[in-house]
Amino acid sequence: MLRCENVDVYYGDFRAVTDVNLSFGKNEITALIGPSGCGKSTLLRSLNRMNDLVDGARVDGQVLFQDDDIYAKNVDPIEVRRRIGMVFQKPNPFPKSIYDNIAYGPRVTGMKVSNMDDLVEEALTKAALWGEVKDKLKQSAFGLSGGQQQRLCIARTIAVKPDVILMDEPCSALDPIATMRIEDLMNDLRREYTIIIVTHNMQQAARVADRTAFFTALADDTTGDRTGVLVEYAPTSQIFEHPKDQRTEDYISGRFG
Ligand SMILES: Nc1ncnc2c1ncn2[C@@H]1O[C@H](COP(=O)(O)OP(=O)(O)O)[C@@H](O)[C@H]1O
Ligand SMILES: [Mg+2]
Repeated sequence: MLRCENVDVYYGDFRAVTDVNLSFGKNEITALIGPSGCGKSTLLRSLNRMNDLVDGARVDGQVLFQDDDIYAKNVDPIEVRRRIGMVFQKPNPFPKSIYDNIAYGPRVTGMKVSNMDDLVEEALTKAALWGEVKDKLKQSAFGLSGGQQQRLCIARTIAVKPDVILMDEPCSALDPIATMRIEDLMNDLRREYTIIIVTHNMQQAARVADRTAFFTALADDTTGDRTGVLVEYAPTSQIFEHPKDQRTEDYISGRFG
């Protein structure tokens, strides 16, 4: 579905991520794990050109979405972000009603929608939120709990009919019950979408992900700058039960990071 080939990501002269080769399977959940600062968010943002919006950020190599390079000259980054949506660490609903949060994307992207009410209901249903909000669609999204706000953000992403959903530590601001609901939801969503999640919670990766990629930061011999590299990528059970690389073993057993 999505593939990185020799991807380097720079901020100015600083190379934050080096030579990542990774392919993400359709209808799979892939977890990106590794110590803080190893470039997980940076890599995730390169998968839907969100880094275009970050000052000084530059991507080398190729990111192929269904075999097309998303950085090719003729590609519209807005369309890339519609097809490869993103959910952030802190729920970030717009200062609008619940309904308008969902309708916003379809409206601004000029999607042809025969019935917006139906689309809003469908997106909220898929995000396991409809039952909780159907009687207060005109109320502000800020009145929802953190967990509900995060499911609203997932519904907002789904509303524009993406193929891939990127999630950057989507549960780190949530309590354990709300976290569990999002994990259940991810498990349902995988039937229809390809999901890539950054998580610092290894139990979460073990619970939800089909495959897990472990990253670490290596110091450059000459400059001493630390750059993120992919150490090991395998089915999740292998990463957690029989890692091949000593660094993976050390990380998952809590010896560093
Ligand atoms: N906007 C930015 N400008 C400059 N450097 C950045 C920026 N964002 C992240 N970095 C640097 O890139 C490296 C990787 O960061 P990040 O992708 O946030 O790591 P992670 O998500 O794994 O914690 C870090 O050294 C960080 O300081
Ligand atoms: Mg991060």
